[in-house]
Amino acid sequence: MTSVAEPVVDELIPEEVIAERVISLAKDIARSEPEDMLIVVILKGSFVFAADLIRALNRAGAKPWVDFMTLSSYGDGIRSKGAVTLSRDISEDVTGRHVLIVDDILESGRTLQFARDLLSGRGAVSVKTCLLLDKTEKREVAVEADYTGFEIGDQFVIGYGLDLAHRYRGLPYIGVVRRD
Ligand code: IMP
Ligand code: MG
Repeated sequence: MTSVAEPVVDELIPEEVIAERVISLAKDIARSEPEDMLIVVILKGSFVFAADLIRALNRAGAKPWVDFMTLSSYGDGIRSKGAVTLSRDISEDVTGRHVLIVDDILESGRTLQFARDLLSGRGAVSVKTCLLLDKTEKREVAVEADYTGFEIGDQFVIGYGLDLAHRYRGLPYIGVVRRD
């Protein structure tokens, strides 16, 4: 094993706070969105959030279809590459469906805009969006989420599915990587 300098991580959003917010998001979604919605989970970062959200949705009475799409706009570090790449597509046909996109973070807005335009272009009746985190200060394109977990500042966060160079996705809370 090579030794890597571990980053210093400060807790930003504790586990219990995330859990409560996910339940309340699920209640809002179950109340307002159609029963036959198709959830499109944007991998990889949102897999932990999506796993909790769909179970909370089930408890709130919703029984959505679920499919997965892998998009990336980040390289291996903490700087965005700009262009969004689709590396794994959903297998469901979205024509005539009500879609709810679930993603981890809204930053520049490019990832969400790409996913939304792609799915509406394929004939979805409606495309709504649910984001765990929103870095409002960092927006570069005009796109807003229909459901947002938490607004955060311009900080690089990890944990609860979010990675730093493909590590730390298993941290149970959301933490901030301390900058020197
Ligand atoms: P956007 O396309 O600029 O809105 O970036 C959104 C994507 O960048 C998210 O889906 C994340 O995968 C990634 N991302 C943005 N900020 C962070 C962060 O602080 N930690 C980890 N990943 C991030
Ligand atoms: Mg992502």
